[in-house]
Amino acid sequence: MSKVRVGIIGAGRWGPNLIRNFNTDAGSVVMAVADTSIARLNIIKDKYPDVKVTESAHEVLTSPQIDAIVISTPTATHYDLTKEALKNNKHVFVEKPLATKVEECEELVELAKNTNKVLFVGHIFVYNAGIQTVKKYIQSGELGNIHYIHATRTNLGPIRTDVNSLWDLATHDVSIFNFWFDSEPTKVSALGGGFLNSQIEDVVFATYTYPKNILANIHVSWLNPKKVREIVVVGEKKMLVWDDMDIQNPIRLYDKKVVVDKPDDAVADTFVAFRSSIYEGDTTIPKIQLNEPLSAECSSFLKAIKNPSTSLSTGKEGTQVVKAILAANASLKERGKEIHL
Ligand SMILES: NC(=O)c1ccc[n+]([C@@H]2O[C@H](COP(=O)([O-])OP(=O)(O)OC[C@H]3O[C@@H](n4cnc5c(N)ncnc54)[C@H](O)[C@@H]3O)[C@@H](O)[C@H]2O)c1
Repeated sequence: MSKVRVGIIGAGRWGPNLIRNFNTDAGSVVMAVADTSIARLNIIKDKYPDVKVTESAHEVLTSPQIDAIVISTPTATHYDLTKEALKNNKHVFVEKPLATKVEECEELVELAKNTNKVLFVGHIFVYNAGIQTVKKYIQSGELGNIHYIHATRTNLGPIRTDVNSLWDLATHDVSIFNFWFDSEPTKVSALGGGFLNSQIEDVVFATYTYPKNILANIHVSWLNPKKVREIVVVGEKKMLVWDDMDIQNPIRLYDKKVVVDKPDDAVADTFVAFRSSIYEGDTTIPKIQLNEPLSAECSSFLKAIKNPSTSLSTGKEGTQVVKAILAANASLKERGKEIHL
């Protein structure tokens, strides 16, 4: 089977990880890398002398020697680069977010359909083994009905100047929630603060509502002393914590719940009418076949080129995430006003 010939646009902080993975995957070979920065290209040239480097993204996007384009440039460039790649009949892996407007996303989805090419969005966490295990717990009913979720994604840096922390970080959490619930949020309310630059929110607290009234709260920030990548899921039967910083044991499943002893028609206005007891069973640490999510994601893109139905992060999922982030941004502008999606 011939290898997929890949061209990569953008070799900044994240691009080299993609270059490494597509260079080591048995199904692909990196043919060329484009970046507008010569300094970045020199670093790539030193490490991969056989890979062609160029300052011209156009040269890579139009090269007949390339089957698939991987885009890892700043958010504002995603739409134009993806469009040019699809128009040149290339399969596309574009880093999150897909674009910055829903209309742009929809246009790209349509273009991919018309050119019969794969449009794959870099929502890396849906390829994370821990996140996939949590989905099984949620969907099997092990946790019971989900009451609420709380996601924390904080660190000191890296500070972005092109997009706020919603675009940069909350895209991950929204993609995870949409994947877990196989649905999109119905409304959101968000507050945030731009402390380093008043125009760009360094911290955002966004509360989405999903179908069945599930509350999904997100705290994102690059202005925080502690690196946290954690999601707490509280169900009526069990609760769990997914901690991406715990490399060996990212999930803890708590057999804990509150049992309320109250007849359905009782009014809970007295201590007697409302009695609750705490149930505390075992805490289990499920064994997870750990993977490198980025490697799984890159392989999944290559697999999708052969069989598009296998992709977990198509243009459709990418569009849904952009819709949810735009709604949270609209709420931010109106100081937390509830925005319906
Ligand atoms: N999946 C993840 O976990 C993850 C992590 C980090 C970043 N990202 C995503 O990756 C993308 C890149 O992020 P980054 O942190 O590497 O940003 P970065 O600013 O460090 O790097 C972007 C690079 O793109 C180059 N560039 C800009 N415009 C270009 C153009 N038109 N043609 C060619 N090169 C161009 C810049 O010179 C720079 O080297 C973003 O979309 C970001 O959201 C994803």
